[in-house]
Parts: sequence; C-alpha cells; structure tokens
Amino acid sequence: MDSGSHIDQLCENLIEKRGKASQGGGEKAVAKQHEKGKLTARERILKILDTGSFVELDELVRHRCSNFGMEKTVFEGDGVVTGYGTVGGRVVYVFSQDFTVIGGSLGEAHAKKICKVLDLAVQNGAPCVGINDSGGARIQEAVDALSGYGNIFFRNVKASGVVPQLSVIAGPCAGGAVYSPALTDFVYMIDKIGIMHITGPQVIKAVTGEDVTSEQIGGAKAHNNTSGVAHFFAASEDECYEQVRKTLSYLPSNNLETPPLKETKDDPMRLDLTLREVVPTNTNKGYDVRDVIKKVVDDADFFEIQPLYAQNIVTGFARVGGKSIGIIANQARVMAGCLDIDASCKAARHIRICDSFNIPIVTFEDVPGYLPGLNQEMGGIIKHGAKLLYAYSEATSPKITVVLRKAYGGSYLGMCSKDLGADIVLAWPQAEIAVMGAEGAANIIFRKEIESSDNKAATRSEKIEEYREAFANPYAAAARGFVDRVILPEETRMALHQALLMTEDKKELRPRRKHGVMPG
Ligand code: HXC
Repeated sequence: MDSGSHIDQLCENLIEKRGKASQGGGEKAVAKQHEKGKLTARERILKILDTGSFVELDELVRHRCSNFGMEKTVFEGDGVVTGYGTVGGRVVYVFSQDFTVIGGSLGEAHAKKICKVLDLAVQNGAPCVGINDSGGARIQEAVDALSGYGNIFFRNVKASGVVPQLSVIAGPCAGGAVYSPALTDFVYMIDKIGIMHITGPQVIKAVTGEDVTSEQIGGAKAHNNTSGVAHFFAASEDECYEQVRKTLSYLPSNNLETPPLKETKDDPMRLDLTLREVVPTNTNKGYDVRDVIKKVVDDADFFEIQPLYAQNIVTGFARVGGKSIGIIANQARVMAGCLDIDASCKAARHIRICDSFNIPIVTFEDVPGYLPGLNQEMGGIIKHGAKLLYAYSEATSPKITVVLRKAYGGSYLGMCSKDLGADIVLAWPQAEIAVMGAEGAANIIFRKEIESSDNKAATRSEKIEEYREAFANPYAAAARGFVDRVILPEETRMALHQALLMTEDKKELRPRRKHGVMPG
C-alpha cells in the first residue's frame, strides 16, 4: 500500500505539470501576447464556453521533434489548447492555438490534438470551434507539419455538413494554413489582429512587384468587404466570441438534429400593418429589405451573415415562432437587388449551410434580373449564377418564398420559385411575376404597333399599361398555382409561421447518388 506521502507527491507532480501547461509559453510570452492586444488561447476558450464548462484534453501532449535542437524546446500541450465544454448548455468542441508557444506553429503533435477534437466532434455529433493564431507550419518539423495540415483538411471536409465548424481568425493565419478555416462553415475575423493570406507582402513584392500591406491583402476588413472569405467582422475579441455563441444558437448540434427552439413572447400570429409602408409600389424605388425582415421575425432579431459583402443580397439567421430560419433576401437598395456573381455565391453557400443543418430557408424576393456586363459574363456569371439554382434545387429543407415586388425572368426562377421546389410561395399584392418589367416587355412585344402609331408616346403608355394589367401582378402566377397564396403584407409573419408548421415534418427522398457536381 502506498504511503500517504508517496501519493501526495505523485499528486503534487501532476499539479505541477498542469500548472506548467496552463502557463503556455511562460510569463514573458503571455505578456507579449497581451501587449499585442490579444488574449491567450485559454482566455479565448473561456470567453466562448459557458462558465465552468471547459474540460481540457491532451494538456500534457509533447512534440517528439529533435531537428535543430528542438528537443530542448518542449512545452506541455505543444502550442494548442483543446477540449470541450458547453455553449448555451450544448456540447461544443474547441481548439485554440497558443501563439505564446513557438508562435502557435503547427507540428505533428499539435495537429494530432486538433484532429482528435475534430474526430470527437463528428463521433459525438457536436460543433467544433477553432481559434487560429499561428505562425503556420512548424518549420523544424518539415513534412510532418505539412502532413498535420493535410490531416486537418481531410477531417474538415469529412465533418462538413455533419457538424457545424466555426473558425475564428485571432492572429496570423498564412500559407496553406488558411485552407482549414476556408473549409469550415463560418469564418470570424477580429479587426487588427486577424490576418489571412496565402502569400505575404514580401513574397508578393518579389513575384509580382506589387507593394501591399498585410492588412490590405489579409485583414478583417479586406476579407469581409472585398474577398468574401470571412463571414463576420468583429471590432474586438469579445464581440467575436459573442458572434460565435450567437451563431451556434441557431444551429443544431449535427445534421441529424433540428435547431433548438427559442421561446419568445412575440406572437407568431401578430399582424403588422406598417409592412404596407416599407416596400414602395413604384418599382424604381429602393428600400432596405432588412426593415421587412425585422418586422416579420421574432423580436425583430435578425442575425446577418456577411453584411459587408455582396450587399445586393442579404443572408442571415432569425426565428419565427421560436424556430430557426435561414434568410436570403434581395436588397433593393443596393444595385436594385440584382443578382451578380458575388451575390449568387454568397446566397448559394448560405442555402447549403441551412440545408445541411435542417434549417428552413425563407427567401424574400424582389429581383429585377442578373447584372449585365462584360465583367460579369467573363467572370463566369453563368457558372456562378448556376450555383444558386443548384443550391435551391438541391435543398430539401423546407423552402418558403415571399415575393415582395419584382420577380422577373431567370432571376424569378433563381430566387426559389415553385419550380425549384419551393414548398410554399407567398406573394404580396404588389408582386410582379413576369418575364421582365412592363416597360421593357411592352417595347418588345408591341414594337410594331408603337412605331406605326401617330402618337408613339401615348401608344407606348397604353401598351405598358396593358402588359402591366395582364402580368405585372401576382395573379397570373397565382392562377397557375406558381404562387400558393397572395397575402396582405401584414399577414407575412403569420403566413410564415403557418408554412413552417406545415413543413415541420417534411421528408423528401431523392435518387441515390454519390454526390452532385456543383457548378463552377
Ligand atoms: C517555427 C515559429 C514559426 C514557425 C513563428 N515561430 N512561426 N517557429 N515555425 N512557422 C516562432 C518564432 O521563431 C518565435 O520564436 C516565436 O514563434 C514567436 O514569433 P515572432 O516572430 O517573435 O512573432 P511575431 O513578431 O509576432 O511574428 C509573427 C509571424 C512570424 C509574422 C507569424 O513569426 C513569422 O513570419 N513566422 C513564420 C511564418 C511562416 O513563414 N510560416 C510558414 C508558413 S508556410 P522565439 O523562440 O524567437 O520566441 C505554412 C504552410 C502551411 O504555414 C502549409 C499547409 C499545407
């Protein structure tokens, strides 16, 4: 039998090891991290998870590299803190790279720790949040480090559509390392501290001669406003972790579950007469579609995704009657809400995320068409626009479309028409579902009458009016059943709630296949 002092000593050893592990790279390195305005890996995890819920795994893992004297540079945990805890009471796996340990660089052991939590997340059906703050592949570990990244990419792809994967960029993330976040569902970038690029300014200067800064090619603003690589811009770490927690609240833990209900006092049958004032009947006038969304959803709470990118389309999450919904909405006040390459890609991706996680897709439609132009054609609007058709048609989550105003031509189909499998199409009285706007249509089909008329202007107006009466309304489409219900604007919330209840147990079986071939 052990004497009391022996077991006490063993326990002391463990406590000492744990203590060392919790210090990361040591006091000086931690102070440097704080000086840069950055939290440590553990502080970050604690901000995301429910208080007291974090359980650390592999805190005593060490690397086994002896190249270039690395056997003398060994830290418990090897530069990444991993484990699990809860967010809103539900299990979430986490990894957080620790820049204070060898610059958070990724070697064999570090990668294995990340792979372990990704595997656990998939096996146990829970989301994984990764916090990236790393100098990249640990140079001393050479191909072992590269293999580590390969193993992570492989798991990111296997987990895609099975459990939600969220990536926070809270420091440098460069070279091939950027592809792990890019393979996940949501990328959050923290202003001033998060950087993502394939090649840095020096390499760019050497190869192309361009003078660029890190911020220009890889900062939070650049990737939220211009490249569309990031989905959330956060001014601070605290704001970022709140965004992460909020995103998780809309998602189920895995693809076999439905999202959690959130109780609300907001009556789902509530009528809102002010909706009549939001969308002008004059089709040339803009408005902010987010005003429509906020009036319709629970507690006016709309969580927008990629708010700074491709602003001609709005994407995000909200709830109606406590149920999560994914929203896609044409934004009439930006480029008249037309569809272009960026908007199509942004919307298609959101549709696929919603569909992966059994979130009903609600589309608010007011779309004049696809953006014309050489840039669009040569940029591949055909293949990128096709992504939107593909994503809507592929989706088997409930699909509810609300035609607010314009729904013209191919873009009418592209915004989840009945033919793309919408379960319910609702239309407001001012909806215009037609091949094109009345003016354009009248000029084409009545060209001869207009040109041969003595009073061209009067005939044109007459013909425009004739076309408008025939087609610039929801009734022609309703007469064919392409619109299920023409509703008063104030009834929109109630109609959405009813449609969500109606589609709650939707099951749609498709022919078996390995996978489809995504356009692009
Ligand atoms: C080993 C690294 C490292 C790395 C940083 N460190 N990056 N060690 N491998 N990749 C070490 C530094 O030597 C230093 O150790 C400590 O981490 C802190 O780094 P500093 O340079 O002092 O920090 P800072 O000034 O903030 O600069 C951060 C940095 C810089 C910009 C990230 O460290 C840097 O440029 N690192 C190299 C980046 C890089 O080229 N990585 C490889 C990319 S290729 P000491 O002992 O001095 O404290 C890649 C490919 C992935 O990642 C491929 C996937 C398929």
